[in-house]
Amino acid sequence: MKGLVLSGGSGTRMRPFTHTSPKQLVPVANKPVLFYVLESMAEAGITDVGVVVGDTADEIRQAVGDGSSFGLDITYIQQDKPLGLGHAVLISRDFLGDSDFLMYLGDNFVVDGIDPLVREFHRERPDAQILLTRVSDPSSFGVAELDEGGRVVNLVEKPEFPKSDLALVGVYLFTPSVHDAVRAIRPSARGELEITDALQWLIDQGLAVNSSLVTGYWKDTGNVADMLDVNRRVLEGVERCDEGDVDDSSEIVGRVSIAPGARVRNSRIVGPAVIGADARITDTYIGPFTSVAEGCRISGSEIEFSIVLADASIEGVHRIQASLIGRRAQVTAAREAPKSHRLVLGDHSSVQIRI
Ligand code: DAU
Repeated sequence: MKGLVLSGGSGTRMRPFTHTSPKQLVPVANKPVLFYVLESMAEAGITDVGVVVGDTADEIRQAVGDGSSFGLDITYIQQDKPLGLGHAVLISRDFLGDSDFLMYLGDNFVVDGIDPLVREFHRERPDAQILLTRVSDPSSFGVAELDEGGRVVNLVEKPEFPKSDLALVGVYLFTPSVHDAVRAIRPSARGELEITDALQWLIDQGLAVNSSLVTGYWKDTGNVADMLDVNRRVLEGVERCDEGDVDDSSEIVGRVSIAPGARVRNSRIVGPAVIGADARITDTYIGPFTSVAEGCRISGSEIEFSIVLADASIEGVHRIQASLIGRRAQVTAAREAPKSHRLVLGDHSSVQIRI
């Protein structure tokens, strides 16, 4: 069985982060979402993996390399435009050949791994297998309708009036029959070849599309709120690690992972939290569910339930919450009058100021 990871696309809901970096590389607990995807491919015993890339191909290649650090052999497949998940399968035909394959969206996060799904597929070998989960906002997803016997009868991409609350999770198993499907379907109203329509085509041909329900935690990390939630979930499993340099006037409470080269001075860090390599934390409170990436400088501040990306600096700010702070961003306090806010915000930024 081969693997196909989709890491192209435009990531409009993650702006402004996606102006400078692919959404699949935004870190969760200081590790890019895409790395979790690649690790679960390896855990499921899949080694031959195609990674579909778009405009951000260079950054993805630089981060992932040839895949050997994940125990994978990676082939990059260039998609010139984000013309849909079905289109990504279409252009991957040469790489996939006549193998069965596992397709995994590079911005999806499934905590308990995918082994049971892969085992079930091998056991029953339907023409395709999908993963479903109950959501409160089905119209943001592909939605499945099942009959009384639990068989998938209808699949619609982002329906205005969803027939169920069962959303398609971005993990799919296919036999080569999907290649006929992606050749047969036409672009949707949003101009994309939808994998949801390809699955419906298989059903319409009388082929077997099996489904199973995700039992554990799943998220599409498409927006900042979801990203923070995934970060919270991953940090719940973090182990305490004291590889940094912490002085006696600092207090580390609970499961906090401090990477080598990090320096903590006169600060209090309450886990679960991770502090990246070479970060400097001074006179600061860092609260639960916070990831501080490598090279950050935080002094005289309070921050919790947030993600701070590499080399950002925060100085004299109380208190930052539920925030995603970009690479090399600077957040400082203005000490002199008047009491005003001075902002230099990139395109599509969003700021919430307490009044
Ligand atoms: O997350 C689950 C949902 O993923 C499913 O419920 C939907 O049925 C499915 O269509 C998909 O919807 P999204 O609108 O969330 O897909 P998105 O455009 O965010 O793309 C998902 C991943 O695939 C992302 O890592 C980018 C990549 N991609 C996307 C497109 C459209 C590509 O590599 N090429 C593409 O052409």
